[in-house]
Amino acid sequence: MSSPAQSDGATLTADAAPGETLLKVTGLQKHFPIRKGLLKRQVGAVRAVDGLDFEVRSGETLGVVGESGCGKSTMGRLITRLLEPTAGTIEFGGKDITHLGVGGMRPLRRDVQMIFQDPYSSLNPRHTIGTIVGAPFRLQGVTPEGGIKKEVQRLLSVVGLNPEHYNRYPHEFSGGQRQRIGIARALALNPKLVVADEPVSALDVSIQAQVVNLLDDLQQELGLTYVIIAHDLSVVRHVSDRIAVMYLGKIVELADRDKLYRSPMHPYTKALLSAVPIPDPSRKSAKSERILLKGDVPSPISPPSGCRFHTRCWKATEICKTTEPPLLELRPGQQVACHHPENFEDQAPQDTVLLTAAKEAAELVADEVLAESAETSAAVAKAVAAESAGSDSGEPADSAAAGSSGSDAADSAAAGSSGSDAADSAAAGSSGSDAADSAAAGSSGSDAADSAAAGSSGSDAADSAAAGSSGSDAADSAAAGSSDSDTADSSGSDSDSEPSEETVTSDGADENPKASDK
Ligand SMILES: Nc1ncnc2c1ncn2[C@@H]1O[C@H](COP(=O)(O)OP(=O)(O)OP(=O)(O)O)[C@@H](O)[C@H]1O
Ligand code: SF4
Ligand SMILES: [Mg+2]
Repeated sequence: MSSPAQSDGATLTADAAPGETLLKVTGLQKHFPIRKGLLKRQVGAVRAVDGLDFEVRSGETLGVVGESGCGKSTMGRLITRLLEPTAGTIEFGGKDITHLGVGGMRPLRRDVQMIFQDPYSSLNPRHTIGTIVGAPFRLQGVTPEGGIKKEVQRLLSVVGLNPEHYNRYPHEFSGGQRQRIGIARALALNPKLVVADEPVSALDVSIQAQVVNLLDDLQQELGLTYVIIAHDLSVVRHVSDRIAVMYLGKIVELADRDKLYRSPMHPYTKALLSAVPIPDPSRKSAKSERILLKGDVPSPISPPSGCRFHTRCWKATEICKTTEPPLLELRPGQQVACHHPENFEDQAPQDTVLLTAAKEAAELVADEVLAESAETSAAVAKAVAAESAGSDSGEPADSAAAGSSGSDAADSAAAGSSGSDAADSAAAGSSGSDAADSAAAGSSGSDAADSAAAGSSGSDAADSAAAGSSGSDAADSAAAGSSDSDTADSSGSDSDSEPSEETVTSDGADENPKASDK
């Protein structure tokens, strides 16, 4: 696979070495004002993103997960500067880009690209694939070596499409193929950071795996840095190095992928993990214990006080209602915002009386999970206490936590198995390394995604036939969608005229209605 063109002209920053911070976000907020009455007075705000702190390292993939409405897309649009933040700072390659104007943003548009969720509305149905994928070159005034057509055809083959299809229209392609076109467009200017907002959620499960694998391959070939947004943990599991779990506009846990899967520390992460399908049939025999979260995500207009998860958390006590837990690195490579974390020492052990909401929520959590949770926390607390009392166990608190409970508990959470084994091994203080290993094998081995990919060859073609037959409808609805301001923002497809095209290809994001709704 060859790499996209090294486009001419200046970009915003120098290349960051692998592992160096490429993007740094501090206190990032986006509050959408709610206006009412004739005078359009502001009566409140949707606190879509409410104080995010994280960084993205060069060459890594940061997965971002959370339920619908928790602010993932808003975060994606903020870091690509398609939206203007309400507060906070965004640094890209060491340069503060938080409030750059249109001119200042132009070079950034080459460095940061976005892949959108809906491959149907993000491609203008009246433009050929050649025009769509070639748009970034025209917008940035870049002429690749050999000309735009040649380069676009090369990009099409890079993403696994037939270069001869240069003159075809979007409706002639399947959903998976359209998403490949979106990826080719995003790669055109050789970006440093690609933000993919639910890149596969609109696709068939079999096609999802192909697109995820393509993104993975491209990253390795081209040294790309990704932020991949998804609404569940199964999509990002395969590709992420680190994962941020969002809840109601905040990050509640941010951890290395394996740590998060083996020993989640936030109860919300544990609940999300318990819903992930188990790819390993040998572990299916284990009893499945799902954690069902009660009710919907509360409104971001008036989020709950203290910890925002306290209205749905089975561990919530009074302090959870009154005091917001900070996001702290409790274990190396694992930050969590919780007073009573899973698989770790209780951060507020004095606060033991459960809230009424917690008692109700606990009815939806299997007894075994509750028992396991209590046992593992107790075991970790004991290990930490022993260590701080000068015990010469030689085990750092972290590894004690991971050994005594983390891996097993995670295993049981991921496998949905009964927690009693975990409780036993925690009580016995066993190392749990076997379980950790098997969890690792389960997570890295034969993923459902892989096997789906293997078995799905040719489905693109079938899909394409289906898309072809209903093509005009899809085209119409996409066309209708592209005039809507929301869609314009999110898809940005290339619309008719160059100026609006600029809007959608992210280049003219500042002209976007959403960008100025601060
Ligand atoms: N332009 C806007 N004006 C007002 N509110 C908005 C706007 N865009 C998003 N919101 C609100 O902000 C919150 C977060 O929206 P966002 O689209 O970021 O969520 P999400 O996590 O991407 O959800 P999903 O998984 O459904 O895509 C939601 O409550 C949404 O209604
Ligand atoms: S235990 Fe408390 S702080 Fe932790 S997630 Fe539950 S409600 Fe939030
Ligand atoms: Mg979204």
